[in-house]
Parts: sequence; structure tokens; C-alpha cells
Amino acid sequence: MKTIATINFKGGVGKTTATWSLGYVASLDPEVNTLIFDLDAQMSLTQAIALNEDGSPIKSFSDWYDRAIGKHKTIFNALDEFTKPATNFNFGINHDFIYKISERYHFIPSVEDLYWTELELFDRDKVKYFIQRLLEKIQNSTSVPKYDYVLFDCPPSFSLLSYSVLSCCDLVLIPINPDFFAAKGLDLLLSSLQMRIEPFPVPRIGVFMNRAKKPGGSSIKRYSNETQRYLDDARDVLNRVSREKDLKVKLFDSAIFDKVGMKRAIQEGMPTDFQKQFQGLWTETRTFLSEK
Ligand SMILES: Nc1ncnc2c1ncn2[C@@H]1O[C@H](COP(=O)(O)OP(=O)(O)OP(=O)(O)O)[C@@H](O)[C@H]1O
Ligand SMILES: [Mg+2]
Repeated sequence: MKTIATINFKGGVGKTTATWSLGYVASLDPEVNTLIFDLDAQMSLTQAIALNEDGSPIKSFSDWYDRAIGKHKTIFNALDEFTKPATNFNFGINHDFIYKISERYHFIPSVEDLYWTELELFDRDKVKYFIQRLLEKIQNSTSVPKYDYVLFDCPPSFSLLSYSVLSCCDLVLIPINPDFFAAKGLDLLLSSLQMRIEPFPVPRIGVFMNRAKKPGGSSIKRYSNETQRYLDDARDVLNRVSREKDLKVKLFDSAIFDKVGMKRAIQEGMPTDFQKQFQGLWTETRTFLSEK
């Protein structure tokens, strides 16, 4: 099982779109089982999976979701159980807890209650170990598949749950956009990551450009000058950080281009060109994960 956390403190850069799309292309492989988590109390990924284009609920999901809530089988219930003093984390893993988007693509949704995890209701030190223990339980369950890849959609802030993921995942995946704040934000994110994750080792870090722009006119370049400049800036930051902090980092060669006019990548279905780009990114991600 390989675990990937998509994170950036900057909002709207494409964390949710990337988590869902990479999970989707991963599960196109008939040999691969993929699980995605929505860890964001804003619930963007959950809503994207739950709602039709016109905002009406998709019945198969909403029936399942209501049942999960009724049976106390949400991620919040799992956390609540895990952090109870002097108990043994009695939380059965089955398909009341894990939703099947398709045969090999499964999902653990967010719930509004996750918002409360930031308050002093929980033993903060204990929460750090929550995701690690939950993954062990999922791996040992005979009621769900053995997942090859688990992807986490993290909120645009350093929440207790993102801490819990970052301290045990194999790869931190950071989408950036071609804008002035990309390199600066990356610098800040990378320095605070190490500080926050200690004493745990920092996972390998992969960065990719989302919403890359093509050049105008008949230019044969791959990117617009602006996108290229921001990519170069990001590369400089990564090179410096890997030197100074001895981290394993990579700027992926595959970028995802800006799809003008796309409102909701997830519900609109994945256009072929978009899918191809994510397949390229996924191939690179898998290779990076398997490198020694
Ligand atoms: N390559 C792209 N081309 C066009 N639109 C995109 C692209 N990537 C993402 N978007 C759109 O940008 C918006 C924000 O994307 P997304 O929700 O994935 O970002 P996020 O980083 O998860 O945001 P948040 O910080 O709020 O969690 C969405 O409407 C999404 O459809
Ligand atoms: Mg999001």
C-alpha cells in the first residue's frame, strides 16, 4: 500500500481535482485497487461525488451516506473512537464505512463534524497516530480489498488530520498554479512541513504545475513564457530545499493544462485530453514512489 497526501496551504490550486483524477486513472488499471479520503471539512470532494451537475443529490450515494451516518460509520466516528481514553480502537472496517465509486475505486467521505477536530475536544497528541492506525485496520480488514494506493485530499490549512496523514504518508503531492505566489508559497510550505512533521521523517515530495498555460500564436514551446518562468522559480526553490534540508523532492515533468471553461472537473466527467495528462502525471508519480 502506497499513500499520497495532496496538500497546499493555498486554496483553489487543484488539490481536490488532482486527488480525484489521479485516483480515477490509477483505478483504470484492472490490477489496482484505489481508495481516496476526503479529509477537508469543507467537503468539496464529497460534494463533487454526491451531487449532480444541477446540485441535486445522487441517490445511490446519499442513501449510502445517510446510512453511514446513522450507523456511526463516518471518519469522525472513527476518530472519536480512536481518541477515547483507555479503549482499544474498536471500529470495524467494511463498506458501511467505505463507499464504492466503482468496482476498484473506493472512497471515505468527509462529514461536517470534522470541523470540530480543530477544537480542544480531542487529545491532539493521539490524533497524530490516527491515520496510521486507521490504515492498519483497513489493511487488515477482510471486508474490503487490499488497496494498492490511498490518496488523501487535504484542506488548505495545516489541520490536525493533515498532520496525522503527513506524518505517515509515502508522498506529499503539491499542486502549484502559474502565479506569482507559487514559488513563495512552496518555500513556506516546505519549511513549515519539516518543522511540523518532526520527529517523524519527511515523506518524499512531488510538485506539479496545474492550470499550466500554452504559448500563444504559432510558438512550438510547451508552455507560455509566464508558466515557464513560474516553473523555473519552483525548480529553484526545490533544488535549494533538497540541498539545504536533505529532502527527496521532484518537480514532475507532467503538467496539467488549464482547461478553459471547466467549472467542475469531477462531475463533468473527465475529458480525454485531461485524462491523458493525469495519466502522464500518475506514471511519473508511481515511478517516483517506487524509486529507492
Ligand atoms: N487544470 C484545470 N483547468 C481548469 N479548471 C481547473 C483545473 N484544475 C482545477 N480547476 C478548477 O478550479 C477550481 C478549484 O479546484 P479544486 O477544488 O481542485 O482546488 P483545491 O485546491 O482543492 O481548493 P480548496 O483549497 O478550496 O480545497 C475547481 O472549480 C476546479 O474545477
Ligand atoms: Mg479542495
